[in-house]
Amino acid sequence: MSVIVITGGSRGIGASAAEHIAHQGMGVILTYNRHPEAAASVVERIEHTGGNAVALKLDVSDVATFPGFRDSVALALRETWGLTTLSGLVNNAGYGLFNPLASVSEAQFDGLFNVHLKAPFFLTQTLLPLLADGASIVNLTSATTRVATAGVAPYAAFKGGLEVLTRYMAKEFGERRIRANAVSPGAIRTELGGGLNDEFEALLAGQTALGRVGEPQDVARVIAMLLSQEGGWINAQTIEVAGGYII
Ligand SMILES: NC(=O)c1ccc[n+]([C@@H]2O[C@H](COP(=O)([O-])OP(=O)(O)OC[C@H]3O[C@@H](n4cnc5c(N)ncnc54)[C@H](OP(=O)(O)O)[C@@H]3O)[C@@H](O)[C@H]2O)c1
Repeated sequence: MSVIVITGGSRGIGASAAEHIAHQGMGVILTYNRHPEAAASVVERIEHTGGNAVALKLDVSDVATFPGFRDSVALALRETWGLTTLSGLVNNAGYGLFNPLASVSEAQFDGLFNVHLKAPFFLTQTLLPLLADGASIVNLTSATTRVATAGVAPYAAFKGGLEVLTRYMAKEFGERRIRANAVSPGAIRTELGGGLNDEFEALLAGQTALGRVGEPQDVARVIAMLLSQEGGWINAQTIEVAGGYII
């Protein structure tokens, strides 16, 4: 049995990924922040289909809580699965914010930085002692690192930083055969940044070669593959999962 941690597993891409990963036969420790009830439903759906999952509270913007979170993960591993190590970590938790560069406040900048770059850095560092040799790390970035999209400058800049950080993780953890890859979604139908209205969805679908926006499961399948042996020789890559967005 192998077990992974996924942050932001209560909704959207993270919830779908948690279900796909569990369906592959892995145990899942998923985290939630503001929506414990949504996390509980994900756990229920996984258990209903014969899988095992545990939901833990984690605010990824609060690095001081990470050592305590590591202890909770170690306890869940031992009590639920009789294990001492993790075989994967998905840094997925995030939020969107639209504001033109000219009016972004320092607090907005810091908030996005904390969640999208500082958190994956220090959460990975904190959980490293629990990660088994040969484990897989997946970091969620964004197609906005390739296509400049007005209104998301700090978000995109930190996601770009996370793509660089992903290659450094692969470089430094390679001696333990730990792989690290970034998954970079295009527009996906979730509640991120307030969700998609009809007009915005039509615009994005028209900019996408496959003619529609993505669904959470379009990204979840790729995350699950990277955690499995199917993805065992993929390392240090950023894989855009966007149906051919602005090509
Ligand atoms: N949707 C897109 O179009 C898109 C495109 C490119 C990249 N992405 C990236 O994909 C990832 C998932 O996004 P999504 O679309 O699935 O978003 P979503 O549906 O809004 O879900 C966000 C998830 O992140 C969690 N979260 C948010 N802030 C958190 C914090 N401070 N601490 C801990 N957890 C926190 C939420 O937990 P609670 O609900 O429990 O608070 C929730 O589970 C994000 O990194 C996002 O930047 C999304």
